[in-house]
Amino acid sequence: MSLSLVQSSLLDDDLSLFESIANNLVNKGYSISLDALPKNLTTLLLQQINELADENFKRAGIGRAKNHVINDAIRTDEVCWITGNTEASGAWIKWAGSLQNYLNKHLFLGLFSFESHFSHYGKGDFYKLHKDAFKGEDNRVLSVVVYLNQDWSFEDGGELIIYPEQDLDSGLIAGNKITVIPNVGTIVLFLSEEFPHEVLPALRDRYAIAGWFRLNTSIANNIDPPR
Ligand code: OGA
Ligand code: MN
Repeated sequence: MSLSLVQSSLLDDDLSLFESIANNLVNKGYSISLDALPKNLTTLLLQQINELADENFKRAGIGRAKNHVINDAIRTDEVCWITGNTEASGAWIKWAGSLQNYLNKHLFLGLFSFESHFSHYGKGDFYKLHKDAFKGEDNRVLSVVVYLNQDWSFEDGGELIIYPEQDLDSGLIAGNKITVIPNVGTIVLFLSEEFPHEVLPALRDRYAIAGWFRLNTSIANNIDPPR
């Protein structure tokens, strides 16, 4: 079967976006696309954020399972894990799934599962420099962040700053840092083990989805817990 037939279930827009994401990941290890999240998905997610009551958000921790702790010095945002129980979150998981399939087919990444949460940074909230995965310790391979803030401007703070690791190692902190304004529609992806990053203090409410594509590390019939 020809490639175009295999991909015919993907909309042309998604296809060219996925192509450009794949090229960026191969060339740079990260990808930033402005105004790229499909419009209908964006509309659903913006509605969902409006409807999500504050009590759905819980203080975010660091570390998994037994090692999970809240640490005010590192991050102060709140999160709401996405289970796919609403139209919006179902559409999001479906979109992430089709990106996963595309990347597996074209880059042989072997991505196996996906987990994601909404995040809310209130005024002053931040997430200090961190990596989403450490070699040999975690199986998060690829991080994705999409933003759900209309009319964000520089004065609103809350930028995502990504640092290529080799710059940090050589003490070149400010070297080639990449600044992302958390504006609605922007999609960021990066290799989870390779890009330290931080969220600068937000000066107004800041909403996003952060997600991670993971490898399968299940042993025997012990299914690796997703979070
Ligand atoms: C995270 C994260 C970045 C952002 O949740 O791990 O780094 O811009 N988020 O919200
Ligand atoms: Mn992160």
